[in-house]
Amino acid sequence: MAPVIKLSSGYDMPQVGFGLWKVDTAVASDVVYNAIKAGYRLFDGACDYGNEKECGEGVARAIAEGIVKREELFIVSKLWNTFHDGERVEPIVKKQLADWGLEYFDLYLIHFPVALEYVDPSVRYPPGWHYEGDEIRPSKATIQETWTAMEGLVGAGLARSIGISNFQSQLIYDLLRYAKIRPATLQIEHHPYLVQQELLNLAKREGIAVTAYSSFGPASFLEFNMQHAVKLTPLIEDETIKKIAAKYGKQPSQVLLRWATQRGLAIIPKTTRPAIMAENLSSTDFDLSAEDLAVITSFDRGIRFNQPSNYFPTELLWIFG
Ligand SMILES: NC(=O)c1ccc[n+]([C@@H]2O[C@H](COP(=O)([O-])OP(=O)(O)OC[C@H]3O[C@@H](n4cnc5c(N)ncnc54)[C@H](OP(=O)(O)O)[C@@H]3O)[C@@H](O)[C@H]2O)c1
Repeated sequence: MAPVIKLSSGYDMPQVGFGLWKVDTAVASDVVYNAIKAGYRLFDGACDYGNEKECGEGVARAIAEGIVKREELFIVSKLWNTFHDGERVEPIVKKQLADWGLEYFDLYLIHFPVALEYVDPSVRYPPGWHYEGDEIRPSKATIQETWTAMEGLVGAGLARSIGISNFQSQLIYDLLRYAKIRPATLQIEHHPYLVQQELLNLAKREGIAVTAYSSFGPASFLEFNMQHAVKLTPLIEDETIKKIAAKYGKQPSQVLLRWATQRGLAIIPKTTRPAIMAENLSSTDFDLSAEDLAVITSFDRGIRFNQPSNYFPTELLWIFG
């Protein structure tokens, strides 16, 4: 079993979980079912991934077959940008829970600190970034309004813990001024090309657990033909990472994951291949030396892949500026 991280909400979160972005609806049910069989207990979903219903079917099958109980699972989902207006939060969480076939989420995150105009699920679901065509329409909701509604989810028993994703320090400092319930976790892009040490320092200091996404760096973004991803050496093929892996008798991918968990972060690697599921899950069964950790950390180039302007042309969404 993977180690756990104690959250400020009092709940334990598995340190190694399973990511659900880009898991096709045609296979999502089987992928989740197989991942539960492989030993995963945390699943990282989102409205935006468009596969919550199918993922829920995989969970239901595993529960029906007695492989796992609901209370042994840790299901994470996220609030999409078009549902930030205070009155939209609870209804959409209820829809997402119904899609999963669940009564509560273990953790519910604000996906991005960007409020966009509401799009009704009957019009388009998931709504994506654009209101219509290529038009981006902001909403007036502040993060305080959205966070207050998120706090309401805990009171209503719809989410056990709440957190944030893709937030940076300045906004976190602000949120902590008014939060009645502090964010239990912060989910961020984190790999050796994007270490974000100061943000991690802040999270540690404030007792916010951090989850790393896209732990293999450019690998996840090649399919979007992002030029800076294509041009970089894939981290799992990097000679230094390969040498370190050989020294421990591990895969380069396991070294990248262990680097993150030894730095105290949770990880949520995604794969549709059962053999790789096991490999990623077992990545906490060895320890890198302090020297090797430092070598990997020194790869930092501040290179970020997951930002809207890398997916489509926009002058409106400079979230990480
Ligand atoms: N909050 C956010 O804004 C945000 C953004 C991005 C991601 N996330 C979350 O983080 C999760 C993980 O990030 P990610 O999906 O970007 O990418 P990732 O876990 O870095 O995986 C990238 C690709 O690497 C391959 N892979 C996985 N394990 C491997 C291994 N051991 N060796 C070689 N290749 C391997 C997978 O392909 P195969 O399937 O072919 O194995 C996958 O497509 C997501 O699924 C999602 O839940 C959150």
